[in-house]
Amino acid sequence: GLKIVTIGGGSSYTPEIVEGFIRRYEELPVRELWLVDIEAGKEKLEIISNLAKRMVRKAGVPISIYTTLDRREALPNADFVTTQFRIGSLDARIKDERIPLRHGYIGQETNGAGGMFKALRTIPVMLEIDQDMAELCPDAWLINFTNPSGMVTEAVLRYGKTKKIIGLCNVPIGMEMGVAKLFDVDSNRIRIDFAGLNHMVFGLSAYLDGNDITKSVIDKIADGKMESTVKNIMNIDWVPEFAAGLSIIPCPYHRYYFKRQEMLEKELEEFSKGETRAEIVKNLENDLFQLYKDPALDSKPPQLEQRGGAYYSDAACRLISSIYNDKGDIQPVDTRNNGALAGISPDSVVEVSCVITKNGPRPLTMGELPIEINGLVQQIKSFERVVIDAAVTGDYNKALLAMTINPLVSSDTMAKVLLDEMLEAHQKDLPQF
Ligand code: NAD
Ligand code: G6P
Ligand code: MN
Repeated sequence: GLKIVTIGGGSSYTPEIVEGFIRRYEELPVRELWLVDIEAGKEKLEIISNLAKRMVRKAGVPISIYTTLDRREALPNADFVTTQFRIGSLDARIKDERIPLRHGYIGQETNGAGGMFKALRTIPVMLEIDQDMAELCPDAWLINFTNPSGMVTEAVLRYGKTKKIIGLCNVPIGMEMGVAKLFDVDSNRIRIDFAGLNHMVFGLSAYLDGNDITKSVIDKIADGKMESTVKNIMNIDWVPEFAAGLSIIPCPYHRYYFKRQEMLEKELEEFSKGETRAEIVKNLENDLFQLYKDPALDSKPPQLEQRGGAYYSDAACRLISSIYNDKGDIQPVDTRNNGALAGISPDSVVEVSCVITKNGPRPLTMGELPIEINGLVQQIKSFERVVIDAAVTGDYNKALLAMTINPLVSSDTMAKVLLDEMLEAHQKDLPQF
């Protein structure tokens, strides 16, 4: 049987992954699930583990649930470690969203100034987890959800010991589900060739039962028929001629770059009413934990679908299963480019369709990205690499460089204002600065 360790086990998302393991029990015999959290998350961890125990009992599968506040107790002999933690909790996210907005800039969990600060807080902790794994479970796979997922994954590949880390996101799965809905078919009949970066990924082609349907998907997008596929991103239609001209499938996050003004106005409107997405999520989370506490509840409640990360566990469980069962199927993940995308250096992490075997992901060759998007993807990758270097070194000038070259900031003066204010606000979670 398999031993799984989930770091950030107190997350309100955990019932999803528990359900995923239960549903796949036949092909993926998980015997132990260790949920790891920290002192501040102790109460949530208790509630989650009790719910998880009720879920496995009801399903009648022999998965034992353990909890600990010491990850070193959980890690020995793990087969897979999944990470889904948030340094500084939602209060830190509130600052990441509010500070930029106060200065008239996009305030977002994984993009712009907010995404950069989430990376600065997270990367040092992820490198400590990498150290512990090298010592306690050197052969385990590390499946990373912790955002910004692409940057965190690249930081470990560049500066950590494990080469067995894979980053994941629910956006590609959501896009396949969105296309399936357009054609009113089951999503396992849809395949999209993905290429780009995390939250900067494009669908280059789409297939229904293996037949190329890209053109009609683009027509439907231009007709405004494909809504944002994640709950955390507001749905504003693309200009039809833009969608047609682009002629590949954008992800919901592209709205921050190709509709920057409209997205900022929407965000500022919500902000003036007093709520950013982080605060909405805080309320959602409160409601979810009230439900989870109910001793009669023994399954994942549908309310969890209000979170942007809905269905993330499908991505996690099918990836783990394909590695364990050496399936050789195709899945989009965040992994070392190795030449799949011609315009990105081979040692950088990209989000790309891969063949998944027991040796992990092997990216499919995608060649050159269309010229009209290639530059933006490269620019974001430059930003990511400078952020990673800043996170590892604590170098102020590097941090300022990163902030300035981000397309959602683009001003050295304003980058310094944001940087100084955010360094101050997050001081306790940024020991390297
Ligand atoms: P959350 O605020 O509920 O945090 C999850 C848990 O992490 C909390 O219980 C917290 O106590 C714990 N934690 C904090 N620091 C820790 C540490 N050092 N070690 C162990 N546990 C720690 O967050 P959430 O909303 O459940 O999201 C969790 C993470 O997953 C975030 O980073 C979020 O951005 C990410 N996420 C990613 C995707 C994706 O597409 N990749 C989807 C959804 C969420
Ligand atoms: C999805 C993304 C995640 C992101 C999350 C936010 O869009 O793929 O990476 O963190 O949703 O959801 P939330 O409900 O926390 O705003
Ligand atoms: Mn994501």
